[in-house]
Amino acid sequence: MQLAGIESVVLESRSRKDIEETIRAGVLEQGTVDLMNEIGAGARMMREGFPHEGIHLRFDGRDRRIDFPALTGGKKVMVYAQHEVIKDLVALRLQTGGEIRFEVSEVGLHGLDAEAPRVRYRQGGASHELGCDFIAGCDGTQGVSRPAIPAGVLSVYERIYPFGWYGILCNAPPSSDELIYALHERGFALVSTRSPEVQRMYLQVDPADKVENWSDERTWAEFRARLATRDGWLPKEGPIFHKVIVGMRSFVVEPMQHGRLFLAGDAAHVVPPTGAKGLNLAASDVRILARAIAAHYKSGSRELLQDYSATALRRIWKAQRFSWWMTSMLHRFPGGDAFQYRVQLSELDYVTSSRAASASLAENYVGLPLD
Ligand code: PHB
Repeated sequence: MQLAGIESVVLESRSRKDIEETIRAGVLEQGTVDLMNEIGAGARMMREGFPHEGIHLRFDGRDRRIDFPALTGGKKVMVYAQHEVIKDLVALRLQTGGEIRFEVSEVGLHGLDAEAPRVRYRQGGASHELGCDFIAGCDGTQGVSRPAIPAGVLSVYERIYPFGWYGILCNAPPSSDELIYALHERGFALVSTRSPEVQRMYLQVDPADKVENWSDERTWAEFRARLATRDGWLPKEGPIFHKVIVGMRSFVVEPMQHGRLFLAGDAAHVVPPTGAKGLNLAASDVRILARAIAAHYKSGSRELLQDYSATALRRIWKAQRFSWWMTSMLHRFPGGDAFQYRVQLSELDYVTSSRAASASLAENYVGLPLD
């Protein structure tokens, strides 16, 4: 919007330091990489990010690679953490004279149905009010935007999975050049990375499990077991400095608009992390929204704005389907019987041996087109 000359103010409840230091995942789709570059925020990402041209699917002691460029006409992904993306976006915005008001509280949205909605908030002990044409609710699952929509307007679609991810950060060299998604009788495991020195790995666990139950020894024994191959692959182990257990769910509200409030990102939808789609969906939402708002100011046309929710939801539901599918294929379901496990192994065998099936996985992983 700033590039189109549209004035806006960003309200952030946390401090700049806080949002820049909260460690988050980050697999950027080709389209998200392109967007960062187009808006002029991509230089550090291109220098310091890690382009990945594939992933490994590991099951039944076998390891098979999905080759993204070969299956998608040259597309790939970039491993570059979300907090690094945030640093670059904040720096660009402040350098180019854009406004971000940090550490605001008691944010309230008013007059969403009126021509000029208002946002009230407190900052540094004083009350403030902003008059605006539009409000973008980009404040996540726990934000104020979604609850500001009157009851009965939104339909909610949700699935809660009967497992969680236990994630660790450790100081070790990468175990693999590319991410490894593994299904084992004992459950899912993922090998990811943050940098040449810091690795990110996950294990499927009971969502009520506690990190205190996972000593370093037990953690590494479990990774060795779930990631084992017939030719004796072993993860590179190192000191673990962070442990967390997160639940997993799929969640969508429809529509993503009420009056002059437009929801984007996690305020409107959540995906399980298996497809690495969360940040990318937020990026495509705001791209669709910014384009619609720019068209409105340029031509006075409301058409793209009226279509925002439907346009964004088409892409969101495809990513929901992909995330649900990856999650279902790669996790053991409690009470899941031997038949279900054999079907999952067979699906992995199919997905990694049929060109059509691996192309389907690859085109979803690198990101489907905007519309
Ligand atoms: C991560 O690096 O944290 C990560 C990578 C891929 C996923 C989920 C998380 O699918």
